[in-house]
Amino acid sequence: MKEVKIETVFQVYKTISETPEDIQKLMIRAVEARQKAYAPYSKFHVGVALLLDNNEVVSGSNQENASYPSGLCAERTAIYYAGAQYPKARILKMAITAASQLKTTSEPIPPCGACRQAIAEYELRQKSPIEIYFMGEKGKVVKSESLSNLLPLIFDSSQL
Ligand code: THU
Repeated sequence: MKEVKIETVFQVYKTISETPEDIQKLMIRAVEARQKAYAPYSKFHVGVALLLDNNEVVSGSNQENASYPSGLCAERTAIYYAGAQYPKARILKMAITAASQLKTTSEPIPPCGACRQAIAEYELRQKSPIEIYFMGEKGKVVKSESLSNLLPLIFDSSQL
């Protein structure tokens, strides 16, 4: 038996104003998307904006359903829309923001496990990393250079 240690690296910005200008703009688009979330059940609103290599910005928000599992997270709404609309474009950057109607969300909100798996597929498909920035409603912004930092021991099509 041997032990395997996996390390991961993130960058943490104190506030959004510390991030590069293009990220500030992308996060504004994510906030706009967040305001369009349909989240009457959880009251937890998530917005995502993607910068594509064709210079388009695609955004998405969480869309809930009375049959709870039928809803979809903001991240997957956005990447599936990008995949459907611009199948040849690569996703360069992703900005994520979340805000609850029930309390102030000041901690960075990372994508859920299912969204990490979905984003991983897109990263592998396009053969280049997706920079991911995530935050709450205010406060710190976490940057990951690639989805792979967020999902060690990834399951992918090579294992099928
Ligand atoms: N949600 C997202 O949109 N993205 C995530 O990564 C975490 C969770 C949504 C799903 C649901 O509408 C609400 O947040 C509460 O889980």
